Amino acid sequence: MRKKVIAGNWKMNMLPNDTISFIEEFAPLVKDTENEVILCVPYTDLFYALLNVQGTNIKIGAQNIHWEDEGAYTGEISGKMLKSIGVEYVIIGHSERRQYFNETDETVNKKIKKAFESGLKPIVCVGESLEQREAGITDKIITNQVKLALDGLTGEQVKNTIIAYEPIWAIGTGKVATSTDANNSIKAIREEIKSIYGQDVSESVIIQYGGSVKSTSAKELFTTSDIDGGLVGGASLKAEEFSKIVNYNK
Ligand code: PGA
Repeated sequence: MRKKVIAGNWKMNMLPNDTISFIEEFAPLVKDTENEVILCVPYTDLFYALLNVQGTNIKIGAQNIHWEDEGAYTGEISGKMLKSIGVEYVIIGHSERRQYFNETDETVNKKIKKAFESGLKPIVCVGESLEQREAGITDKIITNQVKLALDGLTGEQVKNTIIAYEPIWAIGTGKVATSTDANNSIKAIREEIKSIYGQDVSESVIIQYGGSVKSTSAKELFTTSDIDGGLVGGASLKAEEFSKIVNYNK
């Protein structure tokens, strides 16, 4: 049985003080869950988050890395740097980064490899645009993104990759995919992984859904056959709301 993994993606929100008070309120609310709980916070909150989750079941992630360990890359942060302060996860290839910061399938692939080399677990985002959905090419787009993202990884690494299927039209719009559609897309991704890495890997890999997940929709989404939890943006900014998503099965 795959574990459910619920990750918050704070994007460019929350100051250190907000982070501290969020964790103070949130930690007791999720302490009894069997689900994995991750908060992916801005770089400037990482240190505060790491200090304040000590002794809890909450894991901390970042939202991007560079594909080199160090060098003349002004403004960038490496996997090695994140690992050195205790970060465990990193989001790679979020659609906002693909859209606004020239992230490509190639840079996504390089960053995933570097994440593993640095000892971080990647949360890799894929998803189709509304145009692509309306053209009926959703599965083709997302399976191709997955194939390119994972290119050159070992089966063992793929088992340790979290994939987040996030239809772009559902992100921050309040338009959540139906649980059947999301589950079918995730099944298509799992099939693609099976065709490359075999059944054992495809049945182990965690594939989340992301895009306007709320406490009111979490249960229906996360109790389908193939959706292994969620990557949650807006609804992860409020401790009580996010705790209800984490505790969807309570
Ligand atoms: P949302 O964001 O939940 O606010 O739609 C999800 C994401 O972008 O990861």
